[in-house]
Formats: sequence, C-alpha cells, structure tokens
Amino acid sequence: MEHNDYIPKPAKLIGIKEEVTGGRAIKTFRAKFLNGHGFSHQCGQCAMLSVFGKGESMISISSSPLQKDYLQFSIMKTGRVTSALHSLVEGETIGIRGPYGNNFPIDDWQGKNLIFIGGGIGLAPIWSVLQTALGRKDDYGDLTLIYGSRTSADIVYKEDIQALRDKMTVHLSVDVEEPGWEEFVGFVPANVKDKALKPGNAIAVTCGPPIMIKFVIMALGELGFTDEQIYTTVENKMKCGIGKCGRCNIGPHYVCKDGPVYSWAELKKLPPEY
Ligand SMILES: Cc1cc2nc3c(=O)[nH]c(=O)nc-3n(C[C@H](O)[C@H](O)[C@H](O)COP(=O)(O)OP(=O)(O)OC[C@H]3O[C@@H](n4cnc5c(N)ncnc54)[C@H](O)[C@@H]3O)c2cc1C
Ligand code: FES
Repeated sequence: MEHNDYIPKPAKLIGIKEEVTGGRAIKTFRAKFLNGHGFSHQCGQCAMLSVFGKGESMISISSSPLQKDYLQFSIMKTGRVTSALHSLVEGETIGIRGPYGNNFPIDDWQGKNLIFIGGGIGLAPIWSVLQTALGRKDDYGDLTLIYGSRTSADIVYKEDIQALRDKMTVHLSVDVEEPGWEEFVGFVPANVKDKALKPGNAIAVTCGPPIMIKFVIMALGELGFTDEQIYTTVENKMKCGIGKCGRCNIGPHYVCKDGPVYSWAELKKLPPEY
C-alpha cells in the first residue's frame, strides 16, 4: 500500500495514571504499538495522538528513548480531543503518528551539569531528557530539577520525583503558602534565583507556561547564563505536524519540523510569534 504520513499507527493503552484531578486534570498514558508497528524517538520529540472519531492532538513524548517497551504521554484535559483521551480506559486503542520535530542535543551536552526547570504540565517534555540523562549518568555532571506547580495537588509524577531525590538535586515550589509545605513558596523564576544556580559548565532546559519560561530565562540571564546555555520548547498550535499546513509557523520556521526545541539564542532571532 502507498505510504501516507497522515495515517496513525494503532497502539494499545497499557497504563493510565491519574496525576492531577479537578479542573486542570492531568493523566499519564502508556501506549504500546500493535502488530509490530511503531517508531523510535529522540528526547524532545512529540507525536500526534488520535482518538478515533474525535480528532488528534500534538503531545510531547515524555518517556525516554531508552525505554523501549512503551511510549508515555502526560496530558492535561483542555478541550475536545484531550477530554476524549481522558475518557479512555486501559486496553483501548488510540492512533499515534510521528515522531515529530527536532530534539534536545543531549550528545553535545556530555560532561555538562544539566538543570531542568519546569512548571505544571511542562515537566512532560523535560521528563524524557531528564530520564535519559539519569540513564546515562556517567555522561553528565550534576543533575538538578527545579519544578513548580500551583499547589501540591497539581504536582505531576509525584512519587517519581520523590524517588529522584536519591539520584539528583530536586527543588520544588508551590505558588502560595499551604499547610505542611516545607519547600519554596513562590513562582518558579523566584525559586531559580533563590537557588543561585551556577552557570559554569551548565545547560538549563526550561518548559512550562510561556509566561514562566519568559521570566525563567530572565532569571537565568541575571545569574550569568548565556543565551546558548538555555533551551526551551515552543508549543504553537499544530494541525498536520509535518510542515504542510502552515498552522505552527514562527516567521519562516515550521515549529513542527524545525522545533519544538530551541536554544534561547536561536529563538531570540525569530519573530515573537510564540
Ligand atoms: C509540540 C507540542 C507539544 C505538546 N505537548 C503537550 C503535552 O505533553 N501534554 C499536554 O497536555 N498538552 C501538550 N500540548 C498541547 C496540546 O496539543 C493541546 O492542549 C491539545 O491539542 C488541545 O486539544 P483539544 O482538542 O483537547 O482542545 P481544543 O478543543 O482544540 O482546545 C481547547 C483549548 O485549548 C487551546 N489550545 C489548543 N491547542 C493549544 C496549544 N498548542 N497551545 C495553547 N493552547 C491550545 C484552544 O485554543 C482552546 O482554548 C502540546 C502542544 C504542542 C504543539
Ligand atoms: S503543524 Fe502543519 S505546518 Fe506545522
């Protein structure tokens, strides 16, 4: 049969975990391709997930490429397709096409200290590169995670983050004071400044709401990080995912093909359409 880029591959949901409940619900899905189909991916890439009869959405692949048994996606319920995904149960089949986009250049980062700075569901794209760095720990220097959420109930990967504390430095924050919270209170950029992160031989990766990213980059700049040391992802709305429809452009860039990963040095040269 002729190859068609738009046809998704069927994958079975082998695990669904409720991360956050309420109005900003987040679930983590693990999917395994059926019939020996599938693809391998790189850190930072995403995939178009489809719920048959409902539509499709671009979602970051949050599992490490070192994990060969399944692909993982963490998804916030925002509208039509993500609500349909949230209504699925284990054993059901979804469609997946991809992988799309470029990747974090982690091979170029060997020997460097890696700092991951995330907010809310923005931990999902970071998780893939963080897990890969942990899996190849000898290749990198110190690993640090700075992660913030509105409240402690909004933290994703809660148990996994606790387990990380044996392997890397972890600094959490919530936006406002709450009983029993013993870590930082305030927004993520304030936590970045509070921890006085050292730029020497470091790469900082930040993903989260655009407003958080903007102020994290400013905070890193104040701490002496250069534009080349800072990486982020751009999540412009997407439709085709393969550079055909023009939905995701920043100037001449198709974010679905040329992004979503950019260094701040690269992003600064583009028009502010993100
Ligand atoms: C590269 C990339 C990676 C992404 N990774 C993740 C991820 O790991 N987890 C996750 O939960 N979401 C992720 N998203 C966002 C996700 O694609 C959208 O939330 C989803 O497509 C919304 O689909 P829907 O049909 O549920 O909502 P719709 O019914 O289409 O829209 C609901 C609301 O969300 C808004 N919206 C839709 N898409 C976007 C977008 N890209 N940016 C901002 N607002 C949007 C709409 O304007 C509307 O207000 C990613 C997006 C991109 C482009
Ligand atoms: S989503 Fe169609 S060109 Fe990028």
